[in-house]
Amino acid sequence: MNKLAIIGTAALGVTFAAGVLIGRKCFPSDVGNTFKSHVGAKNDPLMKYLLDHSLREHPVLTKLRMCTLQEPRAFMMVACEQSQLMANLAKLIKAKKVIEIGVYTGYNLLNMALVLPEDGKVVGCDISEDYANIGRPYWKEAEVEHKIDLRIKPALETLDELLKAGEAGTFDFAFIDADKINYSEYYEKCLQLLRKGGIIALDNVLWGKRVLNPVKDPSTQSIHQLNERIFRDTRVNISMLTVGDGLTLAFKL
Ligand SMILES: C[S@@+](CC[C@H](N)C(=O)[O-])C[C@H]1O[C@@H](n2cnc3c(N)ncnc32)[C@H](O)[C@@H]1O
Ligand SMILES: *[C@@H]1O[C@H](CO)[C@@H](O)[C@H](O)[C@H]1NC(C)=O
Ligand SMILES: *[C@@H]1O[C@H](CO)[C@@H](O)[C@H](O)[C@H]1NC(C)=O
Repeated sequence: MNKLAIIGTAALGVTFAAGVLIGRKCFPSDVGNTFKSHVGAKNDPLMKYLLDHSLREHPVLTKLRMCTLQEPRAFMMVACEQSQLMANLAKLIKAKKVIEIGVYTGYNLLNMALVLPEDGKVVGCDISEDYANIGRPYWKEAEVEHKIDLRIKPALETLDELLKAGEAGTFDFAFIDADKINYSEYYEKCLQLLRKGGIIALDNVLWGKRVLNPVKDPSTQSIHQLNERIFRDTRVNISMLTVGDGLTLAFKL
């Protein structure tokens, strides 16, 4: 077991005892609330049917998913069915430049890199090199590592660097999937980086149904307030989907 896995296992033990995970409330039952194929809907017959009749996974993606499932924090991984939807959308709009906020082991990053043209690039933002190191061998094996630009630092710093470098209005697709506290800033900055017709996908917008709870912790409050703001945001057309832990798609007008 690597260092990260040991820390992860210890942290998870503390979590389940205290009901608090890395500063945010995250009970096992909440994790189970997410309708993800590998978490809440793991043994759901309808989900099995759905996957049996729609998942067309690149063999290296399958390997990365299986490897990540061995990790103690695998519940963080994007659902494969959600990732396939986002890859299909990116392809549909002929995306060449993608940004992903919160990479983990890079399942979705790899999926995006696979649908990008040879001269396309996906900028990945994360603060953990350890998680990326788990995924990197698979990015190499799929022969798309040259399309991946991984930046290990707080995502807001990377977004500001891109804006400063004059890349506003040049990105086609953004996937927001990191800490929930900074979600609204991620959204604003991604909207600036996006071209007209570009898509922002925001993960965890239903947050294990906690958005329904009147007593909201900081992460839930942050997500709920952003949901209300995006609903009124005339700069985008939107859809909110019940896939995974809730996915909002915002189409820049
Ligand atoms: C839910 S996981 C991402 C899952 C990933 N999109 C996938 O395809 O499986 C969230 C990630 O956000 C990262 N993260 C947390 N806070 C961050 C921050 N301030 N800036 C950048 N990344 C952050 C964590 O290290 C973690 O890897
Ligand atoms: C939110 O962004 C700030 C500025 O980059 C960073 O210092 C902070 O750690 C982020 N919050 C979380 C919970 O990751
Ligand atoms: C946005 O949605 C409105 C209706 O809600 C529609 O009239 C308009 O054509 C949409 N714009 C785009 C670019 O899809």
